[in-house]
Amino acid sequence: MTKDLQELFNAKFGNKSTGEYFAPGRINLIGEHTDYNGGYVFPASITIGTYGLARKREDKKVRLYSENFPEKGIIEFSIDDLDFHKEHDWTNYPKGMMRFLKSDGFQIESGMEILFYGTIPNGAGLSSSASIELLTGVILQDLFDLDVKMIELVQTGKRVENKFIGVNSGIMDQFAIGMGKMDHAILLDTNTLEYELVPAEFGEYVVAIMNTNKRRELADSKYNERRSECEEALSRLQTKLPIRSLGELSEAEFFNNTDLIGDEVLIKRAKHAVTENERTKKAKMALVNGDLATFGKLLNASHASLQYDYEVTGIELDTLVATAQAQSGVLGARMTGAGFGGCAIALVKESEFEHFTENVKAAYKEKIGYATDIYKASIDDGARKLK
Ligand code: GLA
Repeated sequence: MTKDLQELFNAKFGNKSTGEYFAPGRINLIGEHTDYNGGYVFPASITIGTYGLARKREDKKVRLYSENFPEKGIIEFSIDDLDFHKEHDWTNYPKGMMRFLKSDGFQIESGMEILFYGTIPNGAGLSSSASIELLTGVILQDLFDLDVKMIELVQTGKRVENKFIGVNSGIMDQFAIGMGKMDHAILLDTNTLEYELVPAEFGEYVVAIMNTNKRRELADSKYNERRSECEEALSRLQTKLPIRSLGELSEAEFFNNTDLIGDEVLIKRAKHAVTENERTKKAKMALVNGDLATFGKLLNASHASLQYDYEVTGIELDTLVATAQAQSGVLGARMTGAGFGGCAIALVKESEFEHFTENVKAAYKEKIGYATDIYKASIDDGARKLK
């Protein structure tokens, strides 16, 4: 892989790169749309992600090329002019990282060349953008010898999404991609950023990733809408309750106080945030105890809540999940990530995997009219220098 990329780097930039880097994508096992509500999430970094080859320049030119968007060619700007430009397209993600690290006082004074190549399917909801951000972070750290901690790169990546790109996302994706560990899932308390690495031991089961292959159009605006709905529900609850986030409420406290919210849609949104938080804590315990049947049931309950209360699924995800849940050897299935398309996951008995993929593929094609892609997830380390 990186040998071919080395040749490509030479061909594009007429020089050898000085370093090779990788940042994974992520799946989220459970804990969806809880990270901006002060709740728990339970993601893991995966072996598909983004490769980067880089070299520093003597002048101020930043020249970026992605093998995923060859038609865009090399996009160029100056390290002294890091404003957002729509026409700079995907390079706004790396540019945002450069901008915020510089404005935080890190010395990034000269230009550079970077070749990007991502193996995450486009728009799959496996966090290709956070992967690019963290990849850029480790490249800058290495090229410019920055004394920056991974957690700072994680937080910078979130700022890029929020303040540079304009998506009000939480910290889950960047955290999972920066702090991931091979064969572990991360139970993260998004309120305190305390986390625990939990061995992702599924015994005779594997985690399947199923891609709807539906472009996540409108996803960002709907995402921001859900976030404001939760904020509104919270501020209504705060008229009586001394809480700072929905993540602080137990289910009982929530159900006893829904009259404070007084709006059916807002109650459903907050109900998802509160119950999903509880499910995430239970799922972590189930995994630790090796109780995969309970873990699977929690996945199913999570999907139902995202489908009916949070309303972020859609016919493609619902078809994949319902079909997966109906197969023998499946303990549970749910959408993963922001929703509105993207991917779902299922916990499938490895010995049934082939038969599972055949059935789900056939049913999906029949109902939706185009194909789903299904593969096994493997959990890899977080963003890093390869050599
Ligand atoms: C996207 C966001 C995350 C998180 C998920 C939903 O992936 O980037 O911060 O909110 O959606 O759980």
